[in-house]
Amino acid sequence: MSSFDNKVIVITGAAGGIGRVKAKKLADEGAKLTLVDLNLEAVEPVVKDLGLEHDRVLAVQADVSKENQVKAYVDKTLEKFGKMEGFFNNAGVEGITALKDSSS
Ligand SMILES: NC(=O)c1ccc[n+]([C@@H]2O[C@H](COP(=O)([O-])OP(=O)(O)OC[C@H]3O[C@@H](n4cnc5c(N)ncnc54)[C@H](O)[C@@H]3O)[C@@H](O)[C@H]2O)c1
Repeated sequence: MSSFDNKVIVITGAAGGIGRVKAKKLADEGAKLTLVDLNLEAVEPVVKDLGLEHDRVLAVQADVSKENQVKAYVDKTLEKFGKMEGFFNNAGVEGITALKDSSS
């Protein structure tokens, strides 16, 4: 039995590269998951790939930078699973900026 067996974990940025790999790993280890992303459509194939029963996974569209939306997915997680034991706070974007010439 894994230490994640029946643990309820929230993963943000779940539709992205790192989020979906982590979701698969935790699902394989028996966790129940709330998958959060700005882009709900992109979460749907992730949910499908996990092959979890409906009572083991919840997909929520939210912007993690908005406090009321964070509260909403926490509330939805507690409502569905009755508990919440871990967060993988992964949502975000890399800060891409133009290279600057610092030679002068
Ligand atoms: N991939 C890397 O090499 C690398 C390196 C260092 C840090 N990181 C960080 O790790 C995290 C995940 O990286 P990744 O490669 O999976 O990125 P990704 O772009 O593949 O996925 C990020 C996901 O986060 C979602 N997202 C962005 N802003 C959001 C918001 N405000 N609310 C909810 N969801 C939001 C996007 O819709 C996307 O699905 C990012 O924060 C990234 O900055 C990645």
